[in-house]
Amino acid sequence: MLFRRASELIGLDIGSSSIKVVQLKEIEGNYTLTRFGMVSLAPEMIVDGTIMDSVRCVEILQNLIKDQSITSKDAVISLSGHSVIVKKVVLPQMTEDELAESIRWEAEQYIPFDINDVNMDFQILNTFADAEGKSQMNVLLAAVKKDKMTEYTSLVIEAGLKPVIVDIDAFALENMYCINYDVREDETIALINVGASLTNINILQGGTFAFTRDVSIGGNKYTETIQKDLGLSYDDAEKAKKGENVEGVDSFTLDPVIENVSNEIVSEITRSFGYFKTASGNEKIDKIMLGGGASKTKNFGNYLQERLETPVEMLNPFRKVQIPPEFDSAYINNAASMATVVVGLGTRRLSDK
Ligand SMILES: Nc1ncnc2c1ncn2[C@@H]1O[C@H](COP(=O)(O)OP(=O)(O)OP(=O)(O)O)[C@@H](O)[C@H]1O
Ligand SMILES: [Mg+2]
Repeated sequence: MLFRRASELIGLDIGSSSIKVVQLKEIEGNYTLTRFGMVSLAPEMIVDGTIMDSVRCVEILQNLIKDQSITSKDAVISLSGHSVIVKKVVLPQMTEDELAESIRWEAEQYIPFDINDVNMDFQILNTFADAEGKSQMNVLLAAVKKDKMTEYTSLVIEAGLKPVIVDIDAFALENMYCINYDVREDETIALINVGASLTNINILQGGTFAFTRDVSIGGNKYTETIQKDLGLSYDDAEKAKKGENVEGVDSFTLDPVIENVSNEIVSEITRSFGYFKTASGNEKIDKIMLGGGASKTKNFGNYLQERLETPVEMLNPFRKVQIPPEFDSAYINNAASMATVVVGLGTRRLSDK
């Protein structure tokens, strides 16, 4: 969406519960990890994707970059949630230049914001003949609200970096998946990333984009509900949901609270699958690949698998990434579920579209 020349890029995922940074070296499609770091944010710093305390966020980001001895300034960041619209639309066949000319007009009917308030990008996925023999094309349309983009790019600039690409979480997840897993033409895969404030649902058919939706529920909902129902502090609720010992909390009282929230998240995922099925003519989802920090919540994966009657596998964004011995492998394994988006950002190159 925002392209410029640069050499070494860093992937930077500014999540609402932590900032993650990654740098990857690529040789002929093989990736080696050169930098990886993650730092937590207090819950009031970024609330539901809105940066509330940019001064402290800038400080934390600067320290993270320094601690990781990162010298490159060129960052790939991403956005998600309400300010982002991604849609696959069918348009009459035309050239890329013609589409570039008419895209704003074409997009108006698909984008629920004033067209002047968004930055837009598109990609022609494929062309086909419709039932009447007319040439049509599937176009991937992405729009991001300008004010949200400025909010995040300003933070990055204030920290002394240059935001050279502004990506979208769903696309980053897709890139992360494609470098780590063998894509099968006949498979429909749902990538589900359960973060702190958002869950990204991204469906790929034969490795290409088919559907995406971000729903506003994630790990925060567990913490808030445990806090309220069990009368705990934020810190204790956060510990309890991660399975750590908290005085006065036993699994007899905690498990049903966790299960209720899991139930709510799974219902949102079910609803999204329903939208996809309606749009795709009842296409079956063969497998769910699960990531995001909150996907580690007790029994979440099993519960999802049972309710959706679809096999669930945990995503590993470092599956095919070489990890040099100087990295702490226990730390990397523990962080893996939270690194799904940032690894995808780290694979971006300026020549990509
Ligand atoms: N072991 C665990 N068990 C349960 N929840 C966990 C665990 N580890 C991390 N989490 C939760 O995962 C969430 C963070 O995940 P992630 O880093 O993917 O989110 P984020 O990118 O910061 O948020 P978002 O994308 O929604 O803005 C937090 O809610 C955190 O409490
Ligand atoms: Mg996230």
